[in-house]
Amino acid sequence: MTDSDAPSDVNATPPAPAERVRIFDTSLRDGEQAPGFSMGRAAKLRLARSLEELGVDVIEAGFPSASDGDFEAVQTIARELRKPVVCALARCVATDIEACARALEPAAHRRIHLFLATSPLHREFKLNMSREQVIDNAVRAIESARRHFDDVEFSAEDAIRTEPDYLAEVFSAAIAAGAGTVNVPDTVGYTTPTEMAERIAYLRRHVRGIERAVISTHCHDDLGLAVANSLAAVAAGARQVECTIGGIGERAGNASLEEVVMALATRAERFGVSTGIDTRKLYPTARLLSQLTGQPIARNKAVIGENAFAHESGIHQHGMLKHRGTYEIMKPEDVGFSRSQLVLGKHSGRHALRERLAGLGFTPDEPQLDAIFTRFKTLADRKREVFDSDLEALAVGRDPEAVGPWHLEHLHASSHLGGNGSASVRLVHEDGRRASEAAIGDGPIDAVLRAIGRAIGRELELTDFQIRALTQGGDAQGQATLGVRHQDRVLQGRGVSTDIVEAAALAALEVANRIERAAPAAPLRALAQAI
Ligand code: KIV
Ligand code: ZN
Repeated sequence: MTDSDAPSDVNATPPAPAERVRIFDTSLRDGEQAPGFSMGRAAKLRLARSLEELGVDVIEAGFPSASDGDFEAVQTIARELRKPVVCALARCVATDIEACARALEPAAHRRIHLFLATSPLHREFKLNMSREQVIDNAVRAIESARRHFDDVEFSAEDAIRTEPDYLAEVFSAAIAAGAGTVNVPDTVGYTTPTEMAERIAYLRRHVRGIERAVISTHCHDDLGLAVANSLAAVAAGARQVECTIGGIGERAGNASLEEVVMALATRAERFGVSTGIDTRKLYPTARLLSQLTGQPIARNKAVIGENAFAHESGIHQHGMLKHRGTYEIMKPEDVGFSRSQLVLGKHSGRHALRERLAGLGFTPDEPQLDAIFTRFKTLADRKREVFDSDLEALAVGRDPEAVGPWHLEHLHASSHLGGNGSASVRLVHEDGRRASEAAIGDGPIDAVLRAIGRAIGRELELTDFQIRALTQGGDAQGQATLGVRHQDRVLQGRGVSTDIVEAAALAALEVANRIERAAPAAPLRALAQAI
């Protein structure tokens, strides 16, 4: 089948895939060793549990001989997880193998991952070893590891820059010594999809005993080709892919798990393989990683970025409203997003505006819609994104950029380890009234929202809270987005500040002011009067 024959209907059921590709997650090892992504033991265990839920086959939990912390994290994960294979990394030296054996002792399913560099550059400058010495070291390490482990993986570090015939010799010896998985790392992210496919095909033809082993791939993203190279390896017969959530890892990172998995699933008719991943857990797992490391997910990141299922252009929105398959090849629900998002901005059209207004309870007739649309375009030219609050204001004929009537005059919030958060606020109304209230809540943000709700005499319930850095550095601006339930509706508010609690308070105040401004007129009545 060629690309142009591919089904355009996202609901079409692909033929049942035959062979299983193992997903080997190394977020906790290769990912965690990258700057900005280090995690403590508790965080590692939380991520490991989430990876288990996600359905990964192998979790590389760490490198036990790297530090006591790594050893303990591997041991904890080995003790706690029952479903996946828990794996740990070791150099081809006795002390590393023993450390892995001890750390992985409690695991239900365990694997040691031995590695040794094989390329001429590494042999000469890093190892100072001949070809024969490299093979001898690898064989001795694998044999010694087999005394502790049934499941041994051997990686030829920098495999891609290794002479193909020598690499085949190394892997033949590794399999004869007892390795069940031979891994082909593109350690420096140098290869291309066709070269990777040729290399896998070559190894399948020339490695003795290859039918007894699984060929694995481990691609780095220095040229942005890690996922493409991993997929090319699968197409050529690799049956394990090493990857990380969000593509985190050394330098530019590793192949991104969610992209590999969704490519294999979305184009199942091309690859004819399946994975054991519950794709609906992809986004929640990526969000957890982001929370644990404090690193945001890029907005335009494939599969898990905020924009992955967001559409702003009028032409795209029109297509999406007619049939989602026009501009979406995956269903957002299938990767754990709640739904596609039609973002209203200067490129949006009337069709999307009408739909969004209907969702907010406004059903303007054609002349009313014309008037709202004209004002919407003027606003969208000034603002990057038009939010529900702006639309409500436009629909009822208010100035969407007006703030108030309540303004924040004082804010104090505190949190207590293992306990509730508390907050006190003082609001001042445009007519001069002041309202002071305090509240406790489930954390300081919830407490701030409750205090503001009390001050304006409304019951406000927090349904969602997100924070995103808009700038970098110590005085970075953060944008807080709150979902707030009031009566039977959930309203979104946004606030920006260098202080995240203040940003959340401003977001809560935005919602509070919308409620105030809308009262007492019902929206449709107000709409009729306004236009
Ligand atoms: O990139 C690499 O070569 C590695 C090995 C340890 C597999 O991470
Ligand atoms: Zn690596």
